[in-house]
Amino acid sequence: MITVNDLNPNLLKAEYAVRGKIVQRAYELEKEGKKIIYCNIGNPQALKQKPLTYLRQLLALTEYPPLMEEPSVNKIFPKDIINKAKYILSENPNGPGAYTQSEGMNFIRKAVANFISKRDNIDADPTRIILTDGASKGIQAVFTLLMKNSNSGFMIPIPQYPLYTATISLYGAKQISYYLDEEKHWELNEKELEESIKKAIKNNIEPVAIVVINPGNPTGSVLSKENIKMIINFARKYKLSILADEVYQENIYSERHKFYSFAKVMTEMGINDVPLFSFHSTSKGFLGECGHRGGYLEARNVDSEVYYQLVKLQSISLCANTAGQIVTYAMVDPPHENDESYETYIKEKNTILGELKKKAEILGEEINKIKGMSLKHPYGAMYAFVKIDLPQIKNAKNYTEKELVELEAKRDFEYCYELLEETGICVVPGSGFGQKPHTYHFRITFLPPIDEIKELVKKLKIFHENYLKRLEKENK
Ligand SMILES: Cc1ncc(COP(=O)(O)O)c(C=O)c1O
Repeated sequence: MITVNDLNPNLLKAEYAVRGKIVQRAYELEKEGKKIIYCNIGNPQALKQKPLTYLRQLLALTEYPPLMEEPSVNKIFPKDIINKAKYILSENPNGPGAYTQSEGMNFIRKAVANFISKRDNIDADPTRIILTDGASKGIQAVFTLLMKNSNSGFMIPIPQYPLYTATISLYGAKQISYYLDEEKHWELNEKELEESIKKAIKNNIEPVAIVVINPGNPTGSVLSKENIKMIINFARKYKLSILADEVYQENIYSERHKFYSFAKVMTEMGINDVPLFSFHSTSKGFLGECGHRGGYLEARNVDSEVYYQLVKLQSISLCANTAGQIVTYAMVDPPHENDESYETYIKEKNTILGELKKKAEILGEEINKIKGMSLKHPYGAMYAFVKIDLPQIKNAKNYTEKELVELEAKRDFEYCYELLEETGICVVPGSGFGQKPHTYHFRITFLPPIDEIKELVKKLKIFHENYLKRLEKENK
């Protein structure tokens, strides 16, 4: 028998808070009959979001083409969907049970390039696009590509989506953290970037890339064009590649905020020497097709030999799954205005995004009214990163900075654990994403139905008051 001590230490070190101990406890409590409000993970369809009809119809027909021979097919499926399914099968005659080429089906790569061109009014090259099993696999592929040796450093935001810290641990790379500026709505701060990279270089780390998540997870922020320009100039100055994680690009809930892709801003700046890897996914937006594992990566400003290495990497695991590729196609080429399925598509899309907007507003407004809690209003993504006032650790002077941060992580974990036990609300402690020392947060999704969100705000208020009283009594 092998034991844990025989395993890859990098894997043992890697952590992924979104599915950590608190969630395990939530499953146990649910089994015991307690009602749980799952606000821990951006998994929309697990929280009652309905799949889009056109997309599932397309999948049904492409997975089982004999349906198209049935006399009743025209009653069940709109004409444009039947035609689209026929088109997919003509472009991929081997059907979804066969491997595709490593980069993904060519016609879908072309459709992705059209989508980018139309979205940003810029050129996009289908031969620089790779279809991936969700954005996660694309992101990890680029980490593999850029990690020259174990001294290669990746700049990542704090707080961040834990895929990044976990991948860095797993691959044995170096993490260069930079703090997002909470006061400025979680923007990136140039001075902070400069300080963190200089410190890393001083420690003999070789920075190779900067990761930016926009719209932000866990912050719900949407970056301004100016901020993106600053990041591009910074990357250029230090010869860094940019990893632009743009999986929430459809999730914007404010007329004052707009999604700007790095590709667009960089093209407008006339910059063509900063390698850019952009990621998108079928998991988020209004599709919420997390389980289908669809997505793509687009590489810019890399030569064909570099791109070839990415394709080779993809070929080592053959290709992305075909259902995910088709869902990606459906995402980038949804029903058109004169199509039979268009009306339903628009109605479903607007309902999902409209409800998310309402829920973001409820959370943004109501949580800010709770004494001891505050948050920057979430204008994007599916999350809010709520700051909680908890008493500082007693006799802090007696601890090293590292010990103190560990104690603080324990404190926000305990807070979230007790929140779950008492109220059934399942959130993720801020320490799972990283946060400035001596601050406490938790991340909450606004995916549950509106009624549950309203109930949740009331419960949070009562819990927080009681928790503080208890802490005071225990004099921790
Ligand atoms: C910022 C961010 N990037 C990437 C991912 C991974 O998405 P996918 O399901 O496409 O792998 C997530 C998932 O929550 C995310 O929040």
